[in-house]
Amino acid sequence: ARVFYSSGNGPSKGEQVPQAAPVAVFKLTQDFTKDQFPTKVNLGVGAYRTDEGQTWVLPVVKRAEKIIVSDDRLNHEYLPILGLPEFRSSVSRIALGDDSPAIQENRVGAVQCLGGTGALRIGAEFLRCFYNGNNNTKTPIYVSAPTWENHGAVFTSAGFQDIRPYKYWDAQTRGLDFVGFLSDLESCPERSIFVLHACAHNPTGTDPTQDQWKQIAQVMMRRKLFVFFDFAYQGFASGNLENDAWALRYFVSRGFELFCAQSFSKNFGLYNERVGNLTIVSRDTDNLKRVLSQMEMIVRTTWSNPPSQGARVVALTLTSPELFSEWKDNVKTMADRILLMRSQLKAKLQALGTPGTWDHITEQIGMFSFTGLNPKQVEYLVKEKHIYLMSSGRINMCGLTTKNIDYVAESIHEAVTVVQ
Ligand SMILES: Cc1ncc(COP(=O)(O)O)c(C=O)c1O
Ligand SMILES: *[C@@H]1O[C@H](CO)[C@@H](O)[C@H](O)[C@H]1NC(C)=O
Ligand SMILES: *[C@@H]1O[C@H](CO)[C@@H](O)[C@H](O)[C@H]1NC(C)=O
Repeated sequence: ARVFYSSGNGPSKGEQVPQAAPVAVFKLTQDFTKDQFPTKVNLGVGAYRTDEGQTWVLPVVKRAEKIIVSDDRLNHEYLPILGLPEFRSSVSRIALGDDSPAIQENRVGAVQCLGGTGALRIGAEFLRCFYNGNNNTKTPIYVSAPTWENHGAVFTSAGFQDIRPYKYWDAQTRGLDFVGFLSDLESCPERSIFVLHACAHNPTGTDPTQDQWKQIAQVMMRRKLFVFFDFAYQGFASGNLENDAWALRYFVSRGFELFCAQSFSKNFGLYNERVGNLTIVSRDTDNLKRVLSQMEMIVRTTWSNPPSQGARVVALTLTSPELFSEWKDNVKTMADRILLMRSQLKAKLQALGTPGTWDHITEQIGMFSFTGLNPKQVEYLVKEKHIYLMSSGRINMCGLTTKNIDYVAESIHEAVTVVQ
């Protein structure tokens, strides 16, 4: 037996717990925090920052929290295993839309999850257990190349053994490799599972157009591929909740049975409350009932019951017309600040005459920009300029502020000119 600890005679060398690598994005922030350089900049984190470089508690969240804290009817009793009922069925239905036929046909259900990650994980566990036969760990899982670094790992820890990339990013054109994407959809085994970013693709900031989504859906339907949407940035792509849900709603309208992992970390700024929602669109009510009964079993052995605070904030906001409209304004404030930073960064790089084209900075959408900086240029920025960003060249647009943007633009200019 492999022991990792025994009293008396300690573990032998081969049995020691191996050191795991640090999670890149958190390591970057640690390094940033330790750095004493006065004009250091953190473009690594995946969270919103104000123009003062501060985290932002959304005003609507503060209001909702005050209402919750003074509501004497609330208590700390366990929630149902699948979550807060108001949260699982909020009247506003921001993901699928109020008029979703699938909702009217009673074949949509939800599981309140611990963040978008929890929703992906619970969905993945379910698929391993029940998709393509029992415990079919061999079903290929396709994730975009590149993607959020946790996607493959979540499906691996849920037991899947065959994680594959699908073509997505064309480094040459700094845009979508649509031909490659389609050809991977055509050539993969039938019934493969595809993780699709519903909007504001992380890290590339590049989404298919509506017309391209239609073609993607057509191939996926014909080839019987399973769609698992990751919807972590609703509101961040266009500043408008409805527009950002277009792809998801289109797939539902085409009759797909699908999963969608919704995260409220970003659009509510509730990062540490862990608020997520796994939507299940099923073929009929009966099937949905059976799926949810199994979801309950999976949740029971994973976290047993979800936490309530964040879910209450979200449910209250979505069900109160007044709070809902305030929330939409708050989301727009975040999205608009990102747009402003995009246009300023592009303008500054162009004014400096920085080699290369920079149109992709404003063409990309969402929180991130995939700059096209290579790993050496990134290293230069980190080491010489104390500007922290992911080695992929991804930057968080909210890390930019009106105060540091000149420094960042000049530094990028220098990196591109000095380091090939
Ligand atoms: C694409 C994507 N999916 C899912 C998540 C997970 O979000 P959460 O913090 O709600 O688990 C993130 C967060 O960075 C993300 O970027
Ligand atoms: C969770 O998902 C269900 C099913 O899509 C939906 O009805 C509900 O409104 C969602 N909850 C939130 C808070 O968006
Ligand atoms: C699922 O399949 C994997 C690989 O085939 C196997 O190792 C594992 O024990 C199985 N789990 C269950 C619950 O059957």
